Amino acid sequence: MNNKVVIATAISTALDGALSVDEVVDKLEQPKTSDLGDVAFPAFTLAKTMHKAPNLIASDLVDKIDQRQFEQVKAVGPYVNFFLKKGAFAATTLTEVLTKQAEYGQLDLGHGGNVTIDMSSPNIAKPISMGHLRSTVIGNALANILAKTGYNPIKINHLGDWGTQFGKLIQAYKMWGSEAEVKADPINKLLEYYVRFHQEDKEHPELDDQAREWFRKLEAGDEEATRLWQWFRSESLKSFMKIYDELGISFDSFNGEAFYNDKMDEVVSILEDKQLLQESKGAEVVDLAKYDLNPALIKKSDGATLYITRDLAAAIYRKREYNFVQSLYVVGAEQINHFKQLKAVLSEMGFAWADEIHHIPFGLITLNGQKLSTRSGRVVLLEDVLSDSTKLAMAQIEEKNPALADKAEVAHEVGVGAVIFHDLKNERMNSFDFNLEEVVRFEGDTGPYVQYARARAESILRKADKTDFDLDDLTLSDPAAWDTLKSLSEFSAAIERAVTSYEPSIIAKYAINLARDFNKYYAHTKVLVADEGLNARLALVKSVSIVLKESLRLLGVQSPDEM
Ligand code: ARG
Repeated sequence: MNNKVVIATAISTALDGALSVDEVVDKLEQPKTSDLGDVAFPAFTLAKTMHKAPNLIASDLVDKIDQRQFEQVKAVGPYVNFFLKKGAFAATTLTEVLTKQAEYGQLDLGHGGNVTIDMSSPNIAKPISMGHLRSTVIGNALANILAKTGYNPIKINHLGDWGTQFGKLIQAYKMWGSEAEVKADPINKLLEYYVRFHQEDKEHPELDDQAREWFRKLEAGDEEATRLWQWFRSESLKSFMKIYDELGISFDSFNGEAFYNDKMDEVVSILEDKQLLQESKGAEVVDLAKYDLNPALIKKSDGATLYITRDLAAAIYRKREYNFVQSLYVVGAEQINHFKQLKAVLSEMGFAWADEIHHIPFGLITLNGQKLSTRSGRVVLLEDVLSDSTKLAMAQIEEKNPALADKAEVAHEVGVGAVIFHDLKNERMNSFDFNLEEVVRFEGDTGPYVQYARARAESILRKADKTDFDLDDLTLSDPAAWDTLKSLSEFSAAIERAVTSYEPSIIAKYAINLARDFNKYYAHTKVLVADEGLNARLALVKSVSIVLKESLRLLGVQSPDEM
């Protein structure tokens, strides 16, 4: 039984069942400071139904509660505060971690329901930007956290692989491109052609007409246009895959925008049937005034369909294909309006499941104070960021632990992990600046700091040469261990908060706190002394290692055993 249930049972009994155990659990709070107690019950919430002064309810409860299970129970104003028996608390917590191992903290909130996650979704023939990095790592962490809480996540990469830009790209390639060049360095070359197109079309507006003609041909299935498009797509995807492999992130589907080419007619005809389409300056729109939104532009005057039309087709397809219980879109905050419109149009179409569509927006990343953009050509390549961070990690390993085996692999796990962790420790909506030196530091609120704390725990365990723990001997009453034990016990609560608010930063902050508690414990206590407390101390160290590793795994970050 966990501590909250023990406390709630005692209260429920003392109240003669006026509140059930579950009802009490929901009311329990954490006192502001730990000298007030470990768990508090707000007795004033009963004042109305019991027609009694809150302070009196609290003191009466204290008299009725069976005190033996607790170190102390006392009334503080309208609260009943519980002090847990530290030894017993330690034994319960450590036993649970050591028996469940990587399954510790697991919940079943989702009952196996499918959750589609639209994530990463970069645009073909352009580099993956730092902005796409956010979508990729936030989406991946959410997928891990959803799986941990009993959902079945489905990761969908909605590639930007269709649109008028492909007309420009084909035209540019026909004028300046070479097959060998593209093969050697696809993304950079394609981007170069694209940027050059945008420079030259200012003086040669006829280029735009030619580009439009190529896109028209592409939409009509012209052989050459299709071949070039397919080639650009597969070369781009190959280089995206390199980055995904480096990040250790995989997808369940790469159905991008082009996948919906033959699925938009249905959308348009449903809209027509429901008489939702209106003409506006030659274009077809859905009026969304009652949602306080601008009209959604479904079809342009030249008949070309739009981004939102594809998203409507995609949403319907996903509902049919996966029968999701939630459908998430991890896309930057600049698209908030787009997703509001998407949801509103789906509601207008009569799909009740529109309520289960959730846009998970996030803020902008700047690199050393600079915004990132593609048109101007000033882009930060994610590949470069990852290789720079790996180099910085290597430099620190050389300094701290030059004899380490598998240095290159560890440096990669630390460097890449640092970039992912930095992204996730910030609340998603916060914009933040990215300074690599700080991101890869081994001290401070960084990924390497957490990895290092866990590697230290592993090194203690190696020194002790201990893999089996006596679960009947886990009483640990050292006050220095208290914060660490309490943090360990709060893992599933953190996971639950993270999943309900779609906020991986809660797990990142949890991991930083646990690492910090553990470092304090370790600085204060000699773990490896051969006395009667050794088994329990090492069990604590092992538990910290398990929970830090699992926290990092949820975030998509590796945990090297040594660094
Ligand atoms: N390719 C788009 C971009 O880079 C993101 C697509 C997001 N997903 C979606 N279903 N609209 O801005």
